[in-house]
Amino acid sequence: MSDPQLVLAARVQAAIVAAFGAEFAGTDPVIRPSQFADLQANVALPLSKKLRRPPRDVAQDLVDRLDVEGICSGIEVSGPGFLNLTLADGWIARQASALLAGEVRVGGPVTDRPLTLPVDYSAPNVAKEMHVGHLRTTVVGDAFARTAEFRGHDVIRQNHIGDWGTPFGMLIEHLLEIGEEEAHRELTSDPNAFYQAARAKFEASEKGEGHGDFATRARRRVVSLQSGDADTLAVWRRLVDLSKLYFNKIYSELDVTLTDDDLAGESTYNDALAAVCDELQEKGLAVVDDGALCVFLEGYTGREGKPLPLIIRKSDGGYGYATTDLAALRHRALDLHADRVVYVVGVPQALHFKMIYETARKAGWLEHTEPFHAGIGNVLGTDGRILRTRSGQPVRLASLISEAVERAEKIIDERGYDAETRAEIARAVGVGAIKYADLSVARDSEYVFDLDRMVALNGNTGPYLQYAAARIRSIFRMAGVDPADAAGPILITHPAERALVLKLLSFGAAIDALIDDVAPHKLASYLYEVADALTGFYENCPVVKGSDGPVPDEIRAPRLAICALALDTLVTGLGVLGIRVPERM
Ligand code: ARG
Repeated sequence: MSDPQLVLAARVQAAIVAAFGAEFAGTDPVIRPSQFADLQANVALPLSKKLRRPPRDVAQDLVDRLDVEGICSGIEVSGPGFLNLTLADGWIARQASALLAGEVRVGGPVTDRPLTLPVDYSAPNVAKEMHVGHLRTTVVGDAFARTAEFRGHDVIRQNHIGDWGTPFGMLIEHLLEIGEEEAHRELTSDPNAFYQAARAKFEASEKGEGHGDFATRARRRVVSLQSGDADTLAVWRRLVDLSKLYFNKIYSELDVTLTDDDLAGESTYNDALAAVCDELQEKGLAVVDDGALCVFLEGYTGREGKPLPLIIRKSDGGYGYATTDLAALRHRALDLHADRVVYVVGVPQALHFKMIYETARKAGWLEHTEPFHAGIGNVLGTDGRILRTRSGQPVRLASLISEAVERAEKIIDERGYDAETRAEIARAVGVGAIKYADLSVARDSEYVFDLDRMVALNGNTGPYLQYAAARIRSIFRMAGVDPADAAGPILITHPAERALVLKLLSFGAAIDALIDDVAPHKLASYLYEVADALTGFYENCPVVKGSDGPVPDEIRAPRLAICALALDTLVTGLGVLGIRVPERM
């Protein structure tokens, strides 16, 4: 264990037990970073209430029992009873050296309590363009999946694509009319055009304004699809396969880990829907209302205070989005034995998920499973309006990516690379910029999709962090040393070194914060702080060459060791966020 906060929490906990008895064993020592010391423990105040003693006395009792020999260089009681803890430089340096030597894993150990974690993310819709909303759930979900895996959890990626429902009637008819080749071309380059064309035909035919009996055929198709007609299913499969090509192209451009093995689309649950409805009806949770099978939950009301139903079977016998999600959650809880099911889905679907979770809980499916909706906020245009369109002009994800790459090309150094290396760097930087912009803001808040800001080299951006790592690599090139050979030991001789190294020790905590709350921005802010501490370090602590000549080896070696640990931290941290770090920039 090298994270100071965890180390000191354990020590303060031991002191609490030693001072006040075993019944206080579980007490949270309330340790936080502080501006007055490295860390501050504030547990004396809540304890004083329980013990009915003045907080400063309680704090002093703790100090008397606190064994931080070799860890802290200073402890003092301040204010009403805060414990100010200052870490010893030697301890900080030793922890960092242990990380560098691989005695402790950078980013924290593999968990000894692995959880089974299905993660529902990305989930685009067949024969439709992936929009920036999908981009965000894809990028956030992928960062969570990678990070939870890094910690050793058993992640099961579930790409709940929209591959079923009534629109498939018109989509199948349209495909049959335009032919396989044209469908292939449209669905892999401009899926929305395909969708819009199908829809336009349907609407024109409905109004008797052309396209003959297209609407009637489309409706008949829905019936054949639902009844499992082999020819219809074959065309449907074709449609899904063509869309998969398009999704996979985007995933590979974005460096997203999703593959065909992770597909668990809505259609996966078709055979379970009737049984789910029966089960809920038998358990008395679902009732027929106006011909539809509905679940009524307490406290959910719609317009005019009327009870809001979760409709699980429409009056025409059809099932919908809610039924599919109930079947999916049942499967994840009871068949996959999930400890926690993470849904990385837009905030606007919060009510839907609340109702699904509550229904599942009442049905008894969630005895060992905690569902968690990691809500994703809207992406706005620079005009402040939602950058997602159902109809009208869609925002093409593919063109956003290539535009970001083009802009990235302008900010990277021109010297000394061949065209191929240059293109590769630009891709890593452009894609990294888009992804980081998504990851660095709280996932449930809205943010403005502003390419100019995303690719900027300054501020809390992807390129800034990639550059911080690339700069360390260039220091190693200058020193003629391979980062892997920087052996340490790490020494602390300057406050700027101390600040950087101390920061590096809490990498594991930042990873845990991401996993606990599905909050990539917490790791992103941490990495940004590392990059900032690096800047302070460079300003004060020359590594290879100072203003008065080359840095002597006994200072250079420990500083290179600090650089190596910082590089490992940045590369690992950006790596679990799904962002590649180019060798140079
Ligand atoms: N396909 C849906 C959409 O585009 C998202 C599905 C999210 N996952 C789920 N289990 N409902 O809005």
